[in-house]
Amino acid sequence: MEKEEQKVENEKKKRILSGIQPTGIFTLGNYIGAIRNWEQMQEDFECAYFIADLHSLTVRQEPAKLRKQILEAFALLLACGIDPKKSLCFIQSHVPTHTELSWILSGVTQFGELSRMTQFKDKSAKHADNVNAGLFTYPVLMAADILLYQADFVPVGADQKQHLEFTRDIAERFNSRYSPTFTLPEPYIAESGARVMSLQDPTKKMSKSDENPKAFVSILDTPDVIMSKFKSAVTDSDTEVCYKEGKDGINNLMSIYSVLNNKSLDEVEKEFAGKGYGDFKKAVGETVVEALRPIREEFDRLKTEKAYLEEVYTEGARNATAISSRTLSKVKRKVGLL
Ligand code: TYM
Repeated sequence: MEKEEQKVENEKKKRILSGIQPTGIFTLGNYIGAIRNWEQMQEDFECAYFIADLHSLTVRQEPAKLRKQILEAFALLLACGIDPKKSLCFIQSHVPTHTELSWILSGVTQFGELSRMTQFKDKSAKHADNVNAGLFTYPVLMAADILLYQADFVPVGADQKQHLEFTRDIAERFNSRYSPTFTLPEPYIAESGARVMSLQDPTKKMSKSDENPKAFVSILDTPDVIMSKFKSAVTDSDTEVCYKEGKDGINNLMSIYSVLNNKSLDEVEKEFAGKGYGDFKKAVGETVVEALRPIREEFDRLKTEKAYLEEVYTEGARNATAISSRTLSKVKRKVGLL
């Protein structure tokens, strides 16, 4: 490489990519585990964020409802501070390169490795009447999402770690079979908040598909609802606010409080020394209310701006198609397509 070219290469910002499914309003878990980090990364990296609508087709959806949820999810992404002037924002199904690359990558993917994916096992147990092929090949589409943009880092919650490892395996396999083509992406999983737990069963991940609405906080919940969910959060029979094995409920609340207030767990422990669980839960609830308030207000404004949203996602799709087509053309040539 020429000196000048090498300099440009070194100064190039690292690339970030991540996505979220549009199946329901995002939860506090999505926000703390993923989107909050996405927002912060926009300053230092070249970022691409998208609504993974194709992924959500692996579970039965009601078409009219899904269409509405996709637009809402896009508006929510912007309301959470993802700025289309700084980041590439798009809707997955608007960019056809994703499904194309996914098919090509499925040729270098083994049946056995997909069978080992814990998400596939969990979801097929949960939807036993609909164990479709898409559920099985889901990680291949996810690998295509990431590899098309040559992402260096993928900010996700802990539950996506296995999919990232799979993506690296596929990229390495492709690179060694055909010659270097894909950047090997690294998961970016924050130390704190990567696994926000259910408020009703703190041994389970907080999930928007939980049957019990008290188990999760939606980022559009009103202050009253948020406060009452934290008030009824399951804890333990102890009284001390401290981070310890076996205190799953308190550990979860402490993590939420520490991330949103940028405080260490030690600092949180000191702040609540001698105070009871009631005071602590109230403080966590208030912190969450204040963190989510601007998002809810911005969403209320944005959801009526249909023309603006359409403009942003159309422009996003155009740019995403241009960027990802470069990788796809290379791939097609390398595998021997005419
Ligand atoms: P999804 O839509 O389930 O979740 C979006 C992001 O939120 C994180 N997350 C959590 N983090 C902490 N605590 C929780 N309780 C919690 N629940 C969810 C997830 O880890 C994720 O980062 N397969 C992906 C979407 C996807 C994707 C991609 C992600 C499709 N293609 C390419 C990254 C790169 C998914 O279903 O995320």
